[in-house]
Amino acid sequence: MPATVIVGAQWGDEGKGRFTDLMSKETELVVRYQGGHNAGHTLVVDGESYALQLVPSGVLYDHITPVIGNGVVVDPRVLIREMETLERRGVSCARLKVSGNAHLILPYHQELDAVSERYLGNNKLGTTKRGIGPAYADKAARIGLRVQDLLDPSIFRKKLDIALREKNQVLARVYNRLPIDADEIAQIYLEECRPRLEPHIADTVSLIHHALEADKLVLLEGAQATFLDLDHGTYPYVTSSNPVAGGACTGAGIGPLHITRVIGVAKAYVTRVGAGPFPTELHDGVGEALVDRGHEYGTNTGRRRRPGWIDTVMLRHAVRLNSMSELAIAKLDVLDTFDTVRVCTGYDIDGVIHTDLPYHQSDLHRAVPVYQDLPGWKRDLGDVREPHQLPAQAADFLAFVARQVGVPVTMVGVGPGRDQYFYFDSR
Ligand code: GDP
Ligand code: IMO
Ligand code: MG
Repeated sequence: MPATVIVGAQWGDEGKGRFTDLMSKETELVVRYQGGHNAGHTLVVDGESYALQLVPSGVLYDHITPVIGNGVVVDPRVLIREMETLERRGVSCARLKVSGNAHLILPYHQELDAVSERYLGNNKLGTTKRGIGPAYADKAARIGLRVQDLLDPSIFRKKLDIALREKNQVLARVYNRLPIDADEIAQIYLEECRPRLEPHIADTVSLIHHALEADKLVLLEGAQATFLDLDHGTYPYVTSSNPVAGGACTGAGIGPLHITRVIGVAKAYVTRVGAGPFPTELHDGVGEALVDRGHEYGTNTGRRRRPGWIDTVMLRHAVRLNSMSELAIAKLDVLDTFDTVRVCTGYDIDGVIHTDLPYHQSDLHRAVPVYQDLPGWKRDLGDVREPHQLPAQAADFLAFVARQVGVPVTMVGVGPGRDQYFYFDSR
């Protein structure tokens, strides 16, 4: 059975979690393949809201095995807290599997994330300060600690001592911070976290392949998004992993031929948290209305998200980067009250119209969006469950976006609730 990837098509918070939850109905394994607890995925089920950070979004279903793949960076304290919170609410995490090859986030990663942001001053990236960048940097520098190291205390301690030798010099001499105590970390990670995590640590690559061989559908859940991708996003205003669909191969341990469906998730508009270019950003009352109506504040960090109109130049590029087979659009209902909805179809850069994303980022900073204005529908879409219930203007908006982007829109969200969606065929 093939694998399906769910990937963010914009700058994150598109509603990946809710579409993963929806797709989980027909799946057995849901695998997170990159990122860490910088992610925040909100699921609303029967009026109850669940904010997930590390645990894959399929966890709410009993038939799902949620898997944290090797490409994820794991803060064990956060993972344990998240599991405990879910279990207190009656959601079993017993089936959760964590790759032994996933890298650990350690307290010095968080400290370094915070101080390096402070040193960047006005140039700061606006990271989530969760230690993501420093943890991936150590992975690439080959001085990272992995989840499997929790199972071998002497190796764990040896690697920790090696890492701290350098980290404490940097913290003390560059950033004027107090050194970090290895004993304290060892106590927390080996004595407190290890017993709790040990039953979940697994060979997730074999697990995934056994599922594929047994003809089970594997869903690969991306965190962050295409334009936060380390290679393809608006560098340096990106995260430190590869959310694009190709990242699912390395982050889960499968070859590209297993992937037959790639669902790109986009909002009916765009938001971005943190710094970086954003051609269709709105600084006016319309932007305020998007933030208010869409409740555009970070799931875990509470930060206000920057709003803008949907941008099909970016989405076309995302289709290419991800081999996206279709688009799922969330939050169509947020546009319900507008007289006119705008769709960016190109960029005017120094008088020349571009319909492909310019490769040079200075061009992106100067890009003036070219908009197609479409009539709004001025109707509450919250109860729409079938495409024929859609006002013509809303159907036209979806069809226009699909035409611009070159792939069909197949699923549409009209509210945060689990049942507030409908299947669509824009062709
Ligand atoms: P993710 O990080 O991509 O999983 O997205 P987040 O969960 O961070 O942000 C999406 C937010 O929008 C969450 O609060 C969801 O409950 C909410 N949401 C998702 N789909 C819809 C939708 O179709 N309509 C509305 N109004 N809210 C939605
Ligand atoms: P989900 O999975 C939106 C952004 C941060 C910052 C940049 C780098 O919920 O869509 P990092 O802490 O990763 O080093 O920060 O990336 N960012 C996100 N923005 N949604 C996310 O996750 C994000 N994860 C990271 O705001 O601009
Ligand atoms: Mg989010």
